[in-house]
Amino acid sequence: MPTQFSLQEYDAAAAYIRERISQQPTVGLILGSGLSPLAESIENAVRIPYADIPHFPVSTVEGHAGQLVIGQLAGVQVCAMQGRFHLYEGYTPQQITFPVRVMRRLGVGALIVTNAAGGLNPTFRSGDLMLIEDHLNFVGMAGNHPLYGPNVDAFGLRFPSMIRAYSTRLRALLLETAAELEIPVRQGVYAMVSGPSFETPAEVRYLRHAGADAVGMSTAPEVVVAHHAGMEVLGISSITNVAVDATESAMDTSHTEVLEIGKEIVPRLTRLLVGVLEKL
Ligand code: HPA
Repeated sequence: MPTQFSLQEYDAAAAYIRERISQQPTVGLILGSGLSPLAESIENAVRIPYADIPHFPVSTVEGHAGQLVIGQLAGVQVCAMQGRFHLYEGYTPQQITFPVRVMRRLGVGALIVTNAAGGLNPTFRSGDLMLIEDHLNFVGMAGNHPLYGPNVDAFGLRFPSMIRAYSTRLRALLLETAAELEIPVRQGVYAMVSGPSFETPAEVRYLRHAGADAVGMSTAPEVVVAHHAGMEVLGISSITNVAVDATESAMDTSHTEVLEIGKEIVPRLTRLLVGVLEKL
């Protein structure tokens, strides 16, 4: 599998998808761990397995179905990724973000990214929703960056700004919707680490000092690539567990817990996103 892609390869994937749908999607949706059932609310859906799409990576982790679901949600034509790709599965950052660029070539202008995350902010509880204000891309800062290599000028600049990677407009829209629906929403900074091991207590304390409110193993590469390509981004973390900060703690962190709490959050998150889409 190639680690970098040409514009022709993104376009080949986009062309394959375009042939199978009747309406162009305008909003992209990435569903994180345990959040895949959200795609079941999409109406008149066309489902395209990743394995069928030229150059598309194939998802391996439990809880990630691995297909695009294209149809209407709240009257908006959406293209949802039911299952995403992670660095810890062995993919390159370019492979992880391949679908985002394909969505862009399909005409998608806004991307809603969801994930499961561990709560670092001591006021956060398992089951909380967090609107992502900004991120710490530890993986990207260390060199595993999705824009490494030749810049594809058709998408954006060589040195893109990331100051407003998370759209001010969409964040305001989400908070407004959450208030109307009386759904409590936290706000904070998401730290991306590579995984697949969960953080040690020392890493948890370090991430907190670094300014992070939640930690997870995804999202930052997709957001960087989407913002580079001029897409508006909205990011929401479901806090599936509270990060453990002491070796003496009786608590533990597990993928089972992440999936279970994720599932519990789906109805609330669906209502929230439907509310946002209705306002777009
Ligand atoms: N750490 C990293 N990734 C995660 C966590 C966590 O605690 N919970 C869900 N994804």
